[in-house]
Amino acid sequence: MLTLSQRGRSGLQFLGSLQPYASSRVRSIAKAEFEADPQGKAIVEEHERGGSNEPWPDRIAQAKVVAEKSVAYKHERFYQRYVGEENFVRAIPAIEEKRAEAEKLVNRPFEDCGGSLELDDTVPIPDYYEGVEWHLEPGGWDGYDLAGPMFMAGIGPYVFSKGGYAAVEVGDDIRNQRVDVTKHLPKDHYDRIYEMGCGGATTLAACHKNYPDAELTGSDLSPAMLKGGHDAARAMGIPITFKQRDARNTGEPNESVDAVICYALFHEMPVSVCVETIKEAFRILKPGGDIIINDPPPFAAVHPFQAVVLDWDTDNRGEPFFSETCATEWVEVLKDVGFIDTRAFGLGSQGYPWINLGTKPA
Ligand SMILES: C[S@@+](CC[C@H](N)C(=O)[O-])C[C@H]1O[C@@H](n2cnc3c(N)ncnc32)[C@H](O)[C@@H]1O
Repeated sequence: MLTLSQRGRSGLQFLGSLQPYASSRVRSIAKAEFEADPQGKAIVEEHERGGSNEPWPDRIAQAKVVAEKSVAYKHERFYQRYVGEENFVRAIPAIEEKRAEAEKLVNRPFEDCGGSLELDDTVPIPDYYEGVEWHLEPGGWDGYDLAGPMFMAGIGPYVFSKGGYAAVEVGDDIRNQRVDVTKHLPKDHYDRIYEMGCGGATTLAACHKNYPDAELTGSDLSPAMLKGGHDAARAMGIPITFKQRDARNTGEPNESVDAVICYALFHEMPVSVCVETIKEAFRILKPGGDIIINDPPPFAAVHPFQAVVLDWDTDNRGEPFFSETCATEWVEVLKDVGFIDTRAFGLGSQGYPWINLGTKPA
């Protein structure tokens, strides 16, 4: 395990304290001020009656005007942006200080436990993906050669694990959330589980915990994430097949998998790409197979103040598709594509994790 220097660690620990403080103490003041404002009160009442028919950008714009009257809201958002940027400003030098050790860790030999890594540089990089610095990470998912150690030894344990950013609430453990969410797949046993946009191995490892006999395959566009996932899977002794693929074109045979998982994928793709992804999932699922999608909740399911908070990520935290995906009811798209037994529900107090489920007719 890589240990950061005291200086590197403490810089991140500060961010890991500031962010939850902002999103609990400061945000609750901002929310109370929103609710006390006459216009805010009217927006909340309308939401409780089922909401207006105005398009989401207009509804959010009205709620945002009210939220921005609050100095606490502005402070809270400033801290969010500060932490979002500063994560990398602090974590990269902290890892660079330990570059030799981190490289050794990345290049260490692994025991073969099954599983494989199939990279394919002919897979086209979609225009929407090119050049986006997701979560403000310099260079995006493939921008830093030591991104794996940076998350595993730095941002992960000291900042992200404290919660309080985007849809993730303070104290939420994003690893355990993956176990809780994948447990909601409706059957007790699956032969083959396929994760689209798997990134690394975190969600597939959660699947292994819940379905230890299932054969696991994950695909993603990012070679760096896939390589990190392959290493992490071998370090955990979990056989997983990783493939570089676009979620819209997995190359899997028709009706070949029993469950498809899309975890924290949709908010990173335009809605049209998500719809194509659902159609691809329908194609590769066996009759009777299940799909589970987890992403931030739809705006309609959350308090108007929380909708403003979610919408903010679109322009301020390297999440260009956050708002358009939160404005979409995925359960309706599942039905349109042909899934049955569709359901949508939130697990957390603010609607996250938000689960959409469907089954391909037998
Ligand atoms: C927030 S990460 C989530 C990773 C993983 N599902 C998890 O639970 O940790 C989103 C991932 O989606 C991938 N992605 C975005 N567009 C994609 C596409 N069209 N096809 C496959 N993967 C895609 C990104 O490369 C990134 O690894």
